Amino acid sequence: MTARSSLTVVLAAGEGTRMRSSVPKVLHPVAGQPLLVHVLQAAPNGTDAALAVVIGPNHEAVEQAVRRVRPEATTFVQRDRLGTAHAVLAAREAIARGADDLLVAFGDTPLISARTFERLRAPLKNGAALAVLGFRAADPTGYGRLLMEGDRLVAIREHADASPEERKITLCNAGVMAFDGRKALEIIDRIGNANSKREYYLVDAVSIVRNLGLEAVVIETSEDEVRGINDKAQLAEAEGVMQARLRKAALDAGVTLIAPETVFLAADTTFGKDVTIEPFVVIGPGVSISDGAVIHSFSHIVQASIGKNTSVGPYARLRPGTSLGDGARIGNFVETKAATLQAGVKVNHLSYIGDAEIGANTNIGAGTITCNYDGFSKHKTTIGKNAFIGTNSSLVAPVNIGDGAYVGSGSVITKDVPDDALAVERSPQTIREGGAARIREMKTRGKKPKA
Ligand code: UD1
Ligand code: CA
Repeated sequence: MTARSSLTVVLAAGEGTRMRSSVPKVLHPVAGQPLLVHVLQAAPNGTDAALAVVIGPNHEAVEQAVRRVRPEATTFVQRDRLGTAHAVLAAREAIARGADDLLVAFGDTPLISARTFERLRAPLKNGAALAVLGFRAADPTGYGRLLMEGDRLVAIREHADASPEERKITLCNAGVMAFDGRKALEIIDRIGNANSKREYYLVDAVSIVRNLGLEAVVIETSEDEVRGINDKAQLAEAEGVMQARLRKAALDAGVTLIAPETVFLAADTTFGKDVTIEPFVVIGPGVSISDGAVIHSFSHIVQASIGKNTSVGPYARLRPGTSLGDGARIGNFVETKAATLQAGVKVNHLSYIGDAEIGANTNIGAGTITCNYDGFSKHKTTIGKNAFIGTNSSLVAPVNIGDGAYVGSGSVITKDVPDDALAVERSPQTIREGGAARIREMKTRGKKPKA
């Protein structure tokens, strides 16, 4: 049997008024990734699986997010937001090509899995014209209710239009639907807007299917997979569900999480073997952690690649563009950004390493700062291998420090230091009498002595 072709239409044109934000709703992140991106990654993919996304006018950022994850997708703009059925029809051109299965999903239900899309398609093979994803809601307020006669789905009633009796129904519409692709347009074109909001509701497809003498069925899933996000409270709930999933997946893959509930991961975090993450660590998008690495408590890591057998933190901040070679050590109160630290580099205390490259086995003393910004632009610091930077040194970029070079503590380095050279650059210390007298004078004036 040949595989059935599919078109998935993802609706992402809503303003998301209830988020009270200037950012389009579908771009708000869960586990470091926009809501919409989660949906696009779960949607059927591959040959015979087309994707269309319906976006709002002036939502270039949404378009860019689509391009990034599913470059082959077509996007359609829905100019007036007249409801979910109206939004689907914005993609008419794609639907008219007539895939076997037409799937419709919402950009604001990020917890859905690829498997659920497949489950929903199954009834179409057996002749159903429409399959609706349903779930039992703990609090069904706001969701469309599935009206059943026995185990037959007869209609979906939106909350605003539901009677008090209907509002007691907890079986709800998740928003994901699968249509027989060849009948879909005929069905959706018949949807009107005779409801309290004067919107074209996709949910009305159910009663139309019934009136055409065709079959509509429900496939049930858990609430945690289909939480729709309309406001910030729901966004936080979805984050909680996603974090629980990511922690479980990490534990299952062999990562040691001492207090999993205190560790925040991103959807794209990758781990090698025997990685340990101590309590209270936050990992943002784009992080890979290799075998044997230990991330100590209170570290914050975004867009960084962490080599094997490294040690990070406690209290380390690895910012975008950080790359740590095998065996590197980043200690407490160290910040890195756009920095490549080769194998065995040590930055153990209180340093800022930005726009820098550091060769293998170099030791960076406490309090070393790469002065990468001169108030106008950013400059680079390059340090060779086996070098030693003494404590509290300021490396004023652009500057190169050679292999095996030694910088004396407290230096302000403004000129390149050749290989194997010794550089000490600090003002000579002056010693005079009168320290105690000055302190006494200040105390009598009620001031604290200044250093
Ligand atoms: C919708 C369903 C409801 C279901 C719930 C599940 C309808 C009419 N209602 O309600 O039955 O229980 O989802 O979460 O389908 N959108 C557009 N253009 C529009 C309107 C909406 O693109 O003109 C998009 C939104 O961006 C969003 C999705 O469609 O991603 C759903 O719209 P939303 O307004 O959130 O619908 P709900 O009221 O949540
Ligand atoms: Ca919604």
